[in-house]
Amino acid sequence: MRRRQLLALCASGAGAVLLSRCSRGQTQSSPQSQVNLPKLHTSTNGLLKLDLEASVRQINLGNRTVDLLAYNGQIPGPRLEAQPGDTVRIQFQNNLPDPTNLHYHGLHIPPTGNADNVFLSVGSGEQVTYEFSIPQTHSGGLAYYHPHLHGYVADQILGGLGGIFIVRGPLDEIPEIQAAEESFLFLKDFVVEQDQPMMGRMAGREGDLVTVNGQVNPSFSIPAGGLARLRLVNASNARFYRLALEKHPFYLISTDGHPLSVPVEMSELLLSPGERAEVLVRGEQEPGEYRLLDLPYSRGQMGMMGQNRRRPGMMGRGHRGPGMMHPNNQDSPQTLAILSYSGQAEPQSLPPKLLPVDALAAPTTERKFALNHGMVPGQGMVFLINGKSFDPQRIDTEVALDTIEDWEIANTGVMDHPFHLHTNPFQVIARNGKPEPYRTWKDTVLIPTGETVRIRIPFKDYPGKTVYHCHILDHEELGMMGTIEMKG
Ligand code: C2O
Ligand code: CU
Repeated sequence: MRRRQLLALCASGAGAVLLSRCSRGQTQSSPQSQVNLPKLHTSTNGLLKLDLEASVRQINLGNRTVDLLAYNGQIPGPRLEAQPGDTVRIQFQNNLPDPTNLHYHGLHIPPTGNADNVFLSVGSGEQVTYEFSIPQTHSGGLAYYHPHLHGYVADQILGGLGGIFIVRGPLDEIPEIQAAEESFLFLKDFVVEQDQPMMGRMAGREGDLVTVNGQVNPSFSIPAGGLARLRLVNASNARFYRLALEKHPFYLISTDGHPLSVPVEMSELLLSPGERAEVLVRGEQEPGEYRLLDLPYSRGQMGMMGQNRRRPGMMGRGHRGPGMMHPNNQDSPQTLAILSYSGQAEPQSLPPKLLPVDALAAPTTERKFALNHGMVPGQGMVFLINGKSFDPQRIDTEVALDTIEDWEIANTGVMDHPFHLHTNPFQVIARNGKPEPYRTWKDTVLIPTGETVRIRIPFKDYPGKTVYHCHILDHEELGMMGTIEMKG
């Protein structure tokens, strides 16, 4: 197992609670803020151009200084914003000790060449220019860039790498949404206290410090009477977030960067790794402060896999130590951030409708996938799709462009797995045979243990080879990834 370079705990910095607020078009910080707030890079004249460097940096996190992996020295990495039709040119410099690359999770762009190519390896000390254009018809929404070189992904994401990629679009032009206070919440946990046992990889490693935009318990604001628009990314290696906001329901408006047709009210929202969601919140309570909570959720039973090597000392701090037998089985709500009323807005109602979501035609092909795990002598636990562990040389699934397929994905193991397909988004058709209550596009869907989810995928525009995998990145590294070749 490769050694990680991160996580050396250094001298502690000042214990300031870091507060910040990102509003549309600008990045602001409160005066006492000490973190590097993610810099915003927007496209001009149809071109988004920037230098992006990955390196090991000392970052102030919570009240300590930690060695992390960062893009441009920032946690999270710079926020990138483009429009449909734009060209994106990123001069990428790898100053990490290991090879890496970039994946643009949620962008419908080529999976080949110097675009969204997970098979491209950028060696330590090397530079590569990523260049692609965002299709004119691209949906406006929230995407997530992060490293994706097999063998290094989990360590590099747990180490800190990742950032937000926004495509602006018609959703942003809906008057009620335009008037809403926009906040970005990049949810990510870090290991600051201890190294992780191997057992943690099987469960999927969780850090002991949970942050929002690299900050511990920051606040974001809502005007009294107005709306807040929360744009959420689960950028964690393995941690799930079961979110609820005190006294405020969520109105879901977008999933994985794709708008819904109408807002859907929900009291809580589960985000598994790789998933994004956008919600509106109404500022209709007594002005004050309300906690954004992460509620208890169990994502499986490691104990049932016959693995029983955990010693009490491996638990780590808190209820959700990294080597847990019952991953994520915290027993009480944790506070992630504070919603704080500030100012007054013209009373604002919810937008009655958003953007149309077209139904897909019937599929021409149906496939079945089973997610499971098994013991391999000498290798330990491996994670499997249809009984196979990842092999980049093998083509597991061959599809024809301009066709529609249904994939029925069954989780026959004992842990939840968020299933992510690159390049082409899909619609969830049914869960356990029950039709999905509303239509929306996704690129990552949670397949809970024992359940079966049917998705419908139109394969469009780009030939080439890419992957689908579990977005608990330790599971991906341990084999739960398959290859797909799209043929024109
Ligand atoms: Cu966000 Cu293949 O990953
Ligand atoms: Cu998994």
